[in-house]
Amino acid sequence: MSDDELTPVFDRGTREHSRSRNRLRAEPMLPETAYQLVHDEALLDGNARLNLATFVTTWMDDHANRLYAETFDKNMIDKDEYPSTAAVEDHCWRILGELWNAPNVDDAVGTSTTGSSEACMLGGLAFKRRWQHARRAEGKSTEKPNLVMSSAVQVCWEKFCNYWDVEMRLVPVNAEHPVFDGSDLENYVDENTIGVVAIMGVTYTGAYEPVRDIAAKLDEIQEKTGFDIPIHVDGASGAMIAPFVQPDLEWDFRLPRVHSISTSGHKYGGVYPGLGWVVWRETKWLPEDLVMRVSYLGGDMPTFALNFSRPGAQVLLQYYLFLRLGFAGYAEMQQGSQDVAVFLSRAIGEMKPFRLISSGTDIPVFAWTMNDDYTDKWTLYDLSDRLRMRGWLIPAYPLPADLEKVIVQRIVVRADLSLDMAQKLMGDFRDEVGYLDALPAPMPDAERAPAFHH
Ligand SMILES: Cc1ncc(COP(=O)(O)O)c(C=O)c1O
Repeated sequence: MSDDELTPVFDRGTREHSRSRNRLRAEPMLPETAYQLVHDEALLDGNARLNLATFVTTWMDDHANRLYAETFDKNMIDKDEYPSTAAVEDHCWRILGELWNAPNVDDAVGTSTTGSSEACMLGGLAFKRRWQHARRAEGKSTEKPNLVMSSAVQVCWEKFCNYWDVEMRLVPVNAEHPVFDGSDLENYVDENTIGVVAIMGVTYTGAYEPVRDIAAKLDEIQEKTGFDIPIHVDGASGAMIAPFVQPDLEWDFRLPRVHSISTSGHKYGGVYPGLGWVVWRETKWLPEDLVMRVSYLGGDMPTFALNFSRPGAQVLLQYYLFLRLGFAGYAEMQQGSQDVAVFLSRAIGEMKPFRLISSGTDIPVFAWTMNDDYTDKWTLYDLSDRLRMRGWLIPAYPLPADLEKVIVQRIVVRADLSLDMAQKLMGDFRDEVGYLDALPAPMPDAERAPAFHH
């Protein structure tokens, strides 16, 4: 069947399409038809602005949108062909290095990545290689590296350990220690520990891990055992919040044990999906033999990345935002998100069915659970479904191992959730709780496998 320009667009090509979704069509179709089919399929997704599950940017201003459209053809790896974009990448990580209090940015090193996951992989790889060099120099085995972190880490660390054959040592969070704070650390580290991960903004709850306490504990351990164990701060969200909202909190390169910090430019950095950053406090913490050289303006440009080609536009967008907002603009934007988060957490915390797990005062993210014995009629999963009917995407899920019986619901506040929208959300929220409370019988107890993944 060929497309016919006279056939109304919504009828064109749809019969054949329904048969060949997973197979390349033999014949081309008109661009308008193909556009409409893809456009319509994407309509079935949730509304990104109402997606309060995601940390990732869902709105940028018109100038950013224009810049994006002008630069989507740039490949970040073509440093020779796009030297200005390469220079902008350099400006950006230096800005971050300074923001994170590197003692001398000229002696620091950093790079953009596709997101925090890749940035964390690079941080982990630098740890592993540094440890291997040290062990080999002492004639010791490099067979059994391990990395220590809380059981509430994001899945990217599980990937790192799996892909690069590193034993993952999880310090459990529990009711007594709801965040990893360094207590008990001596029972987890040994001569094979390549590093410790500290999270600024735990994905499940938004809480900061006290990096200073973890570093102090590692100082103590070094005194007793001689193990000199570095910290990577996974600041996927918090590394772009703390410098502006909690400037006095010491979590960054002010602590010499923090060798590297990663963040997502596409989370509280404010850029559309596809951007992360990692910076090393000192060049020496990024082993030279991990760095590849690409030619750059006749000279050579060091690169450390998992991919070769990747978009350069997001890097330009990050620089646009750095220029556009400056320190004061970022501070206002992040504080605004936090104010909305605290407004919402207070309102939800005051409702009878709920108990707050966190309140949005670290990163603008908070979670709550249901009071035991409140009702047997409904659960947070049911509330999540009801809110979804109104367009709001607010996931419910269990906390990590040892606390997995606690089911929570979480809201991530981004800059595009205004107080006005938050008030509207609370109206819908109260209505839906009212609806569930008024049910004459319990919701059917369907088997609930959490669909939400961090
Ligand atoms: C603490 C933490 N680390 C890493 C990641 C992975 O980030 P990305 O999605 O940018 O790869 C996330 C994502 O939510 C996170 O919260």
